[in-house]
Amino acid sequence: MTDRPRTLLTAVRPEAQRDLYGFYDGLRGAGPCYWDRVVSSWVVTGHELVAAALTDSRMSSVRFPEPDAVEDGLRRFATVISRSMLYRDALEHARLRRAVSRTFTARSVEALREPISAAVHEIIDRVRPAGRMDVVADLAVPLPFNAICALIHAPEPDREQLLAWSNDVAAAFGNARLTAGEKAAADRGVAGMAAYFDRLIDRPEALLRPGDLSRDEAVANTILLLLAGHETTTHFLGNALLALLRHPGQIPRLATDPATAIEELLRYDSPLQLVLRRATEDLDLGGERIGAGQPVLLILGAANRDPAAFPDPHTLDLGRTGKARHLAFGHGAHFCPGASLARLEGDIVLRALLDRLPGLRLAEPELSWRPSLNFRGLDRLIVEW
Ligand code: HEM
Repeated sequence: MTDRPRTLLTAVRPEAQRDLYGFYDGLRGAGPCYWDRVVSSWVVTGHELVAAALTDSRMSSVRFPEPDAVEDGLRRFATVISRSMLYRDALEHARLRRAVSRTFTARSVEALREPISAAVHEIIDRVRPAGRMDVVADLAVPLPFNAICALIHAPEPDREQLLAWSNDVAAAFGNARLTAGEKAAADRGVAGMAAYFDRLIDRPEALLRPGDLSRDEAVANTILLLLAGHETTTHFLGNALLALLRHPGQIPRLATDPATAIEELLRYDSPLQLVLRRATEDLDLGGERIGAGQPVLLILGAANRDPAAFPDPHTLDLGRTGKARHLAFGHGAHFCPGASLARLEGDIVLRALLDRLPGLRLAEPELSWRPSLNFRGLDRLIVEW
């Protein structure tokens, strides 16, 4: 890039999304950790520094100030969501995470294997005669959403409403300039979900029930599972399939070593591009002095393309080995507890599509990406066979 980008904010533009990793390479020119005046935050792009920050107890995840101090329009959103583990630190975070892991176990994920596989094949049976589909709308949205609803035992008739609320709330994440209408929709979405789950958690089959967790905490963490488990996986499925269709020579490796292949697909085009932390005291990161209270944006997507960690980082290599581990699921205390479910969905979906739709190819080479700093995902992915 000749004109070096100076602010991360530009990443939301369609032309930057089309060449996101070239854009990050431009940002790297400002150093692996730099102060971005436009977003008023430190921006960290280096793999080693992002990994170090994610395990540094002086980097807080407590995102929202006291609800009264939150800007008008997002107060209910902040009140509910701030009770989830994602926005808690240290002992309180550990307590919430332990309580959730008691029921959200490897066994509960494994129990979803058969239903997920059946749902994928049912979708393929339905679309196959048409010779064409939008992978995002037909598969990548409904599949993870239904999987997470099955995990939290949300009844099928309620899912359409839950999806509508979830979309309104997700739109508020990573959108740098929310309109008043978008804020109000996000706030209403959270309020709707909070009232809904307040009833659901009394059912004996609910995943999280009051007990180890307070009522509010059970509601907030159920909402977190729904939100965190849905859109990220949708984007993973779309991004991974796109990468494979653009590198057909690599597809056989998905069958020979699926576990390694899935990790490389997560590294190559990570569905969640950044996480936010706030320094609780003055500290040094990569030779920069970060002041107490300052926000720090950790760019997972840039760290995963850091040439210092991954040789030839812009090459998709489904057999990639090496010491550095990708950070697509984060690192440290908040490492994604849904990683095994996301990997399972990726493995089932990608192999089923490629096995059952021979000749699968991109039907529309022009792509449009969601205008988000956080999420990296396609608006649609039209394929034919
Ligand atoms: C946390 C990514 C799927 C539930 C995280 C974090 C990342 C992440 C980067 C760390 C956030 C931070 O450090 O601030 C992803 C990606 C996914 C995915 C890329 C799909 C490919 C899922 C699924 C679920 C889930 C399927 C639920 C079933 C969560 C929860 C947290 C989390 C509850 C918070 C953990 C904590 O605060 O301790 N995820 N995730 N995620 N994820 Fe995922």
